[in-house]
Amino acid sequence: MWLLSLALVLLLQLSAAQNVSYDHRSLILNGKRRILLSGSVHYPRATPEMWPGIIQKAKEGGLDVIETYVFWDRHEPSPGQYYFEGRYDLVKFVKLVQQAGLLMNLRIGPYVCAEWNLGGFPIWLRDIPHIVFRTDNEPFKKYMQSFLTKIVNMMKEENLFASQGGPIILAQVENEYGNVDSHYGEAGVRYINWAAEMAQAQNTGVPWIMCAQSKVPEYIIDTCNGMYCDGWNPILYKKPTMWTESYTGWFTYYGWPIPHRPVEDIAFAVARFFERGGSFHNYYMVWYFGGTNFGRTSGGPYVASSYDYDAPLDEYGMQHLPKWGHLKDLHETLKLGEEVILSSEGQHSELGPNQEAHVYSYGNGCVAFLANVDSMNDTVVEFRNVSYSLPAWSVSILLDCKTVAFNSAKVKSQSAVVSMSPSKSTLSWTSFDEPVGISGSSFKAKQLLEQMETTKDTSDYLWYTTSVEATGTGSTWLSIESMRDVVHIFVNGQFQSSWHTSKSVLYNSVEAPITLAPGSNTIALLSATVGLQNFGAFIETWSAGLSGSLILKGLPGGDQNLSKQEWTYQVGLKGEDLKLFTVEGSRSVNWSAVSTEKPLTWYMTEFDAPPGDDPVALDLASMGKGQAWVNGQSIGRYWPAYKAADSVCPESCDYRGSYDQNKCLTGCGQSSQRWYHVPRSWMKPRGNLLVLFEETGGDPSSIDFVTRSTNVICARVYESHPASVKLWCPGEKQVISQIRFASLGNPEGSCGSFKEGSCHTNDLSNTVEKACVGQRSCSLAPDFTISACPGVREKFLAVEALCSS
Ligand SMILES: *[C@@H]1O[C@H](CO)[C@@H](O)[C@H](O)[C@H]1NC(C)=O
Ligand SMILES: *[C@@H]1O[C@H](CO)[C@@H](O)[C@H](O)[C@H]1NC(C)=O
Ligand SMILES: *[C@@H]1O[C@H](CO)[C@@H](O)[C@H](O)[C@H]1NC(C)=O
Ligand SMILES: *[C@@H]1O[C@H](CO)[C@@H](O)[C@H](O)[C@H]1NC(C)=O
Ligand SMILES: *[C@@H]1O[C@H](CO)[C@@H](O)[C@H](O)[C@H]1NC(C)=O
Repeated sequence: MWLLSLALVLLLQLSAAQNVSYDHRSLILNGKRRILLSGSVHYPRATPEMWPGIIQKAKEGGLDVIETYVFWDRHEPSPGQYYFEGRYDLVKFVKLVQQAGLLMNLRIGPYVCAEWNLGGFPIWLRDIPHIVFRTDNEPFKKYMQSFLTKIVNMMKEENLFASQGGPIILAQVENEYGNVDSHYGEAGVRYINWAAEMAQAQNTGVPWIMCAQSKVPEYIIDTCNGMYCDGWNPILYKKPTMWTESYTGWFTYYGWPIPHRPVEDIAFAVARFFERGGSFHNYYMVWYFGGTNFGRTSGGPYVASSYDYDAPLDEYGMQHLPKWGHLKDLHETLKLGEEVILSSEGQHSELGPNQEAHVYSYGNGCVAFLANVDSMNDTVVEFRNVSYSLPAWSVSILLDCKTVAFNSAKVKSQSAVVSMSPSKSTLSWTSFDEPVGISGSSFKAKQLLEQMETTKDTSDYLWYTTSVEATGTGSTWLSIESMRDVVHIFVNGQFQSSWHTSKSVLYNSVEAPITLAPGSNTIALLSATVGLQNFGAFIETWSAGLSGSLILKGLPGGDQNLSKQEWTYQVGLKGEDLKLFTVEGSRSVNWSAVSTEKPLTWYMTEFDAPPGDDPVALDLASMGKGQAWVNGQSIGRYWPAYKAADSVCPESCDYRGSYDQNKCLTGCGQSSQRWYHVPRSWMKPRGNLLVLFEETGGDPSSIDFVTRSTNVICARVYESHPASVKLWCPGEKQVISQIRFASLGNPEGSCGSFKEGSCHTNDLSNTVEKACVGQRSCSLAPDFTISACPGVREKFLAVEALCSS
């Protein structure tokens, strides 16, 4: 009886409708103004098996809201045919968020950008007669309305809007239209008004937002996207100040180094936003959790399969430390000040040329933000007759207007060293040669065809083949006026050369030397896309493949213009047609022993999953470019051969000063992506099928599986911001097994390489060991008086520990 009524109470709570409204200060949930901390998690960029763990870690990190886009291209693969299974089970994802007690911001779009193939538009949408995307165009509006309505109705049927007792408190229509609206003129204005009205008429009972788009009707909330949004305000005073995309890093392109954003700068940006009147904040792009672009879902072109984004939760769903922990500390501090902050207007005062305070007072409560926006100098300020030292480019939060509860530049939460351990698997490989040129169904045309028009994006690949007569010999070459993204050139079955454009030069010309034999020659050009354009005005008109003049030069008889002669085309590869990457399909050909490295080769092996629970990746450092599948599931495109430029990585990264995505790059001169995530749920313990298609040539014998784990954890605690320091092992089955370093004074180095400084205490290791070894977590409250350290500006304790399972 007792249990039954408890269940009933729970049920009633679950189904209780939430009233979502807002005023100029914040969103108002059931009559209460709220500070809401949100993070993006894109469901298809992880597996359903990973979703609960990611949502849980987001919640533990102090988030209230999960944001996701909705991916039209995968949900409606052909007009009126819908797909919501597996990684695309949107309802299941929203319900998991609800079960975790979190809220949702559903950004339907349906244009999403998102570094996703064609920005999330289905490829078939390009073929609708007279269509123009994202403007006042009847065919486009019809399909957009139909998809958005489909998603809204699905959510309504499952009672998932807050007005129905569900978790969805906000929904978004369109996306960052302000970036392109100038290209669409008056029609663009009419379109935005139509989109707003169409969304509002859906009657969801929750507010609609539009991001990075200021010209919105008064019932839509306009929101900010950017590296910094402090000082930004919505057009109308009655709307709350909301930040929908706050970048925790940036995404990786093939051929480009890896971007990082220091957590001190993110915490500074977020604290400044709340200091200056913000109330809703979402970590994005460099999502809260970035994940993986499995299959051929990445956009771009050139967006890598890894979508790690340097996010607080890494691609594998593990906490990225100290980023996750430092932001958790910030979130907890903001939540403690929520009522006072939102019940008053901030009182601004100058504390120095680059220093200011915002004070919120309500009843007996008082919360102060002290900011030092000087990008170079630490400073000391006077605030209410007390001195505070403020590191450069930092914000201190004082929850009682007296004591510093948080400073954005003082990272107190633990950091860690993540290791990728080779599993030293000895894989035995077999291979199958993909035929050069036409091997299956083909067709002819007397012109160079546009690639997407021809393949309908059923494959990355399109063969362009033709024949030429060579009279005499000499040095000859092919001149291609324009190509995108990649072309591999073959003559009479022999590989000649490979060409690609880059993230910054999307269309380029090619001058490729080729060797012709006297008489008739077959020229076969394999053109490949690397993710379809996801950003920009009129993306439905952007082309791929070969175009313009294609001239054969250097022949004694003069140049030959091949553009208008007869070409034979084949969409996709023979191996794709045979589905060689599936267990069934792999049996349809005879695989041979692996000989030398060569282009256009399929590789196959069987493997056992690396033991344990740690996340798994495939180390493809020895390979060129291609795609990889495990048990028929595509783990994405790989391209380790495309190395990052050598010159743009700084020696070290200074968090101070304005961040942009080119500021703190690493990995110069190296593969942009070496490790490729293989979700555990895609593997059986034994007898898994791994298949690769290699385009340019690679050495499969060096391929290995690696497991990812966090074994070394480190913490620091400063005398000026004293607190207890918590050490904890991230793995559920791990305990602290050893204290490798513990020193109070001025230790040097960083996590993994700490050294004693000129001033140190010797006897700390024992104390720390007693408190921590054998525990999953422990707290240490250092006594700063035990070490005098004359002349040392600020004492701190540094600890390094080992976690083992
Ligand atoms: C929701 O709250 C707003 C503002 O407090 C109020 O005006 C409105 O009537 C409420 N709506 C419902 C359905 O309770
Ligand atoms: C910061 O410090 C530098 C070097 O000491 C000095 O030149 C500069 O004027 C200082 N800037 C401010 C704003 O005080
Ligand atoms: C600060 O000190 C001055 C001078 O001693 C005093 O008049 C003032 O009331 C003090 N202000 C606060 C906020 O304590
Ligand atoms: C080659 O032929 C194409 C197709 O007819 C034409 O558009 C192009 O101008 C020609 N190029 C040259 C250099 O004559
Ligand atoms: C594989 O090899 C066997 C034995 O040589 C042959 O009978 C069979 O036809 C081959 N299969 C294919 C698909 O080529």
